[in-house]
Amino acid sequence: MTDPVLTIQALSYRYPNGEAAARGIDFTLNPGEKHGIIGPNGAGKSTLLQLVTGLLKPDGGTVRVGDLVMDKSHRAAIRRKLGLLFQNSDDQLFSLTVRDDVAFGPLNMGMTPEQAEEKTLGALATAGIVHLADRAPHTLSGGEKKSAALASILSMDPEILLLDEPTAGLDPRSRRELIRTLRELAHPMMVISHDLDFIWDTCSRVSLLHEGRIALTGEASSVLRDRELLERYGMELPLQLQRCEWCGGKNDN
Ligand SMILES: Nc1ncnc2c1ncn2[C@@H]1O[C@H](COP(=O)(O)OP(=O)(O)OP(=O)(O)O)[C@@H](O)[C@H]1O
Ligand SMILES: [Mg+2]
Repeated sequence: MTDPVLTIQALSYRYPNGEAAARGIDFTLNPGEKHGIIGPNGAGKSTLLQLVTGLLKPDGGTVRVGDLVMDKSHRAAIRRKLGLLFQNSDDQLFSLTVRDDVAFGPLNMGMTPEQAEEKTLGALATAGIVHLADRAPHTLSGGEKKSAALASILSMDPEILLLDEPTAGLDPRSRRELIRTLRELAHPMMVISHDLDFIWDTCSRVSLLHEGRIALTGEASSVLRDRELLERYGMELPLQLQRCEWCGGKNDN
């Protein structure tokens, strides 16, 4: 068994107003694993991402990425390993052109312009938006912005992708394209989403977060098919399973 790429142990965090948003979270992400994090509003999903990326400092517990334990001395090194896709793409795009946004990370990491150009072209191709390279980010549609934001992360060669509600605001076609792109990526990923159909289409494992704790972890093919369990936590079966509750097997991912 290979070592996990991300290990979270007994992670706890209380906001200054006293709200305990993480109450002893244990979680592991294995190499190549696409792991969905689901849970009702206020469960602590966004807080968890902020703890993983070091934006919030936990009151207790540890976050380990590979061999590195998140602390002051490793925070920068860990951040370089993590590619965080913000829920709002506008928070991630700030340059005059998409190409500049995608090249920003590589140049900032000290690559030569030629190296950065190569990374940029590769990331644009992976995200399927080579044709948008010279567009101004603010002129893009929501789906195009999401792809540009994804390219701006991929150009830095992250080891782990962290996606916060990636389908929010996408139309069906953009959503399908994002699903296709993510399925082709080999990166391990933590995918936070209320879109259980999207989780079903992309993730092999699922953890359910509830009141700041992981209530359960399991195979996506069993957790997302458990109507009674999902309803107990205020969620519903993925629509594609509601339409086809007699379906035998999970889709071929
Ligand atoms: N800045 C803050 N100050 C105080 N409490 C906060 C803050 N941010 C979040 N909380 C509280 O922490 C808990 C977890 O919030 P969090 O945003 O992590 O939930 P979530 O699972 O991402 O919810 P959603 O599905 O609505 O995005 C909630 O009770 C929330 O009210
Ligand atoms: Mg949230």
